[in-house]
Amino acid sequence: MSHHDNLITTDILGYLDAQENKSFLRFITCGSVDDGKSTLIGRLLYDSKLIYEDQLASIEKESKKSGTQGDKIDLALLVDGLAAEREQGITIDVAYRFFSTDKRKFIVADTPGHEQYTRNMATGASTADLAILLIDARHGVQVQTRRHSHIVSLLGIKHIVVAINKMDLVDFSQKTFNEIEEDFRTFSSDLGFEDIRCIPVSALNGDNITIPSNHMSWYHGPCVLEYLENIDISANLNTDGFRLPVQWVNRPNHDFRGFSGTVAAGTISPGDEIIVIPSGKRSRIKDIVTMGANLQRARKDQAITVTLMDEIDISRGDFICGVDHPAEQSDQFQASIIWMSENKLLPGRSYMLKTTNKTVSASITDLKYTINVNDLSHDAAKTLKLNEVGVCNLSLEQAITFDTFANNRQTGCFILIDRQSNETVGAGMLNFSLRRASNVVWQNLEIGKPQRADQKHQRPVVLWFTGLSGSGKSTIASLVEKKLFDLNRHTYTLDGDNVRHGLNKDLGFTDADRVENIRRIGEIAKLMVDAGLMVLTSFISPFRAERQMARRLFDSGEFIEVFINTPLDVAESRDVKGLYAKARRGEIKNFTGIDSEYHAPTEAEIEINTVEQTAEQAAEKIVTYLKNNGYLN
Ligand code: ADX
Repeated sequence: MSHHDNLITTDILGYLDAQENKSFLRFITCGSVDDGKSTLIGRLLYDSKLIYEDQLASIEKESKKSGTQGDKIDLALLVDGLAAEREQGITIDVAYRFFSTDKRKFIVADTPGHEQYTRNMATGASTADLAILLIDARHGVQVQTRRHSHIVSLLGIKHIVVAINKMDLVDFSQKTFNEIEEDFRTFSSDLGFEDIRCIPVSALNGDNITIPSNHMSWYHGPCVLEYLENIDISANLNTDGFRLPVQWVNRPNHDFRGFSGTVAAGTISPGDEIIVIPSGKRSRIKDIVTMGANLQRARKDQAITVTLMDEIDISRGDFICGVDHPAEQSDQFQASIIWMSENKLLPGRSYMLKTTNKTVSASITDLKYTINVNDLSHDAAKTLKLNEVGVCNLSLEQAITFDTFANNRQTGCFILIDRQSNETVGAGMLNFSLRRASNVVWQNLEIGKPQRADQKHQRPVVLWFTGLSGSGKSTIASLVEKKLFDLNRHTYTLDGDNVRHGLNKDLGFTDADRVENIRRIGEIAKLMVDAGLMVLTSFISPFRAERQMARRLFDSGEFIEVFINTPLDVAESRDVKGLYAKARRGEIKNFTGIDSEYHAPTEAEIEINTVEQTAEQAAEKIVTYLKNNGYLN
């Protein structure tokens, strides 16, 4: 009977209390299956007796069948088998496993070591306190070891265990172990690790994993589990500044108003003074409510609901902080980003940025450089590809409450989500704020859009034409402008070919440049609408994401998308500028419809079929739409 069972039968309350107060250690293992990673995790789980009986039975059967380890149970099957189950339907391939001993609870993030390593590691490592790096004793420090160490260091992990594995295959040689240890320490000396513990192991045979090996009497240190049970990670707990990112406001009735979330740093007790960010309002904690009884003290990682002595307004996205070191607010950051998508990062594109408790629109305004994870060197870059790490400036549509990643890894990190696909495309760390949110605010001047529009007796609007090159956008837009002009309207047309001669002459036709082209046009059109004008924009604007970004800049009813729907073969057969012929000959690269995408609109207010209608009829149709919808009263 284990110590667990003893406590459970003799002192159930004591047992629960001990469970509650046991500290958590989150760790990640880095290395490949060849290095023995799955075997190591399997061994930890197996020897801590946390594998369910039925799972064990099936593994025993499997290992007999596959026979990779003779009659021994192949522990790698345990981990790999579970991983395969989980792979279905999830993009990020990290399996979390829980186990516990009398001293501690553990969560291990297991990340497959194949080529998706950076993305998977980043996911697993983002909350880890410690990393176990596996090194095959026969091969020593490899390129992969360096790469993993760099990623771990970028992700802010300070505690490292180097498990030098397969010691049985090097005759348990102390000399080999010492050489690898020295190599690793030299290489990693400037990676910012606080402690490094090298342990000689044989995961397959269980040497120095959970019980001391009797093959290496020269080694006097702890085995892996003992080390994990005892390592002091209290510095990771950020005890000085309390943080409760508010996930939701719990208001079941008029008498109760609680603020719920998971403590991200520090501790709190009833009576403690708190400050709410961003409002700056202060109060004191009344009660700390949980699923069970009220708490006298709550600490990092606990999910709690607090009530306050005073009625103050708090919403999701706010932070309840200790008064000494409250969190900050900003909407401009320098950040490091790990790209996780097959689709490249496009500076200027609007992504959803999700923090612990808030989701806002954000775009990368300036990609400064990429970091090569093999040697930490910097390279200039215009985009990030899958698994690349870059440093950039980030601009948010709304301010967020945050800490820098160096100060708090939970409140200092975020993910980026693609608006169209909902895919998680990046994970990032907030390095520092570039300015305080409140410094630059939109100035409401005496004369605003309504006054300017009134003076012109018109309703400002943007007609956003989109369609292939040669579809007829400019021709039709020009006819519409003429008709509006004749109706005494103040208009302006922004045209692709023209704007690219001036404001946007620094831009070409890569995806990134097109995104920036449309971002600028959207902003200019917005200023012109603010000036009270009726604006026509005529750009291919091939990507749905940027057309939506432009749409979001305007009030409802101010943005009318006009899809000039001319099929590619028709536009190509007209080939007014001879560009399609050139593109077909390969003389122009990234030509829309040929080797660059066009996303047809799905929600355009007006669709024009130029095969069945003349340009004149199309223009008339657009003006009729404006009349019927109150734009020309
Ligand atoms: S957009 O994609 O960024 O919206 P924009 O409308 O500004 O493009 O410019 C398109 C015009 O540039 C086309 O009508 C054509 O005259 C010219 N052009 C030159 N190269 C290309 C290209 N590779 N793809 C599309 N248009 C091109």
